[in-house]
Amino acid sequence: MAFKHWPLVRDLRFAQKCGRFLRGARKRRPDLRWDEFHRIARHFKQDDMGSFAERGYLFQLASDLPAGAQVVEVGSWMGASTCFIAGGLKGDIARIFAVDNFQGLSTCGEDSAWYNRHFQKLGAKSTLEIFRKNFADLGFASRAEPVVSDSLAAARTLAAKRGAIDFIFIDGDHSYDACKADIVAWAPFVKRGGVIAFHDFGSRADGVTRAIFEETKGGRFAEIIGVAGTIIAFRM
Ligand SMILES: C[S@@+](CC[C@H](N)C(=O)[O-])C[C@H]1O[C@@H](n2cnc3c(N)ncnc32)[C@H](O)[C@@H]1O
Repeated sequence: MAFKHWPLVRDLRFAQKCGRFLRGARKRRPDLRWDEFHRIARHFKQDDMGSFAERGYLFQLASDLPAGAQVVEVGSWMGASTCFIAGGLKGDIARIFAVDNFQGLSTCGEDSAWYNRHFQKLGAKSTLEIFRKNFADLGFASRAEPVVSDSLAAARTLAAKRGAIDFIFIDGDHSYDACKADIVAWAPFVKRGGVIAFHDFGSRADGVTRAIFEETKGGRFAEIIGVAGTIIAFRM
């Protein structure tokens, strides 16, 4: 086991990095419930799908939504990003539709090999049970509606929700064609003034960056509202 994965070292690194992030976050946005963010971050101490800045930004975007907001996430994996969003939501009827095939078989170019290795190591047939357990452990079970499906098929199944979604976070298949197809399929779900955000803009996933860049130039989004790490968010 690498030194940084020793439990004591991992806990120390977590406390240092999370503490540093939270000091800045509390100054920037003293109105948000950062203790709740900390609780979720502690649960996902071993998660390696996003930085504190990125997780914090998702939490902030969700916290800024109106009470009872409806959210779609495309690409939930084990539910870490989904839980950070859930933690920011308000009101009993707020929901996240978590769209994923839960097979972890992302076609992320070089990352697909990593995904498949990681997935095989889990020794599970699907990440769905892990997703459900994470939600239940954090007390968010009633907020999540897992949609076990390919992304584009889910966009057809959920067609009745077009124009009614407050926030969509896209972090699924990272190839150019798939990201472009996700934008075309999912952007019409976001209500006017709602938010669409993407993970891996400007990362080594060139296809994601190119697809978002083209759609931005083509006028798909009304305005950029923020960037944190490789998350970029737009107002529709
Ligand atoms: C990068 S992971 C998501 C990580 C998660 N958002 C997080 O930050 O914790 C990508 C996920 O997208 C899913 N995925 C990839 N292609 C998909 C597709 N076409 N339809 C549905 N899910 C897909 C994979 O199963 C994987 O769980």
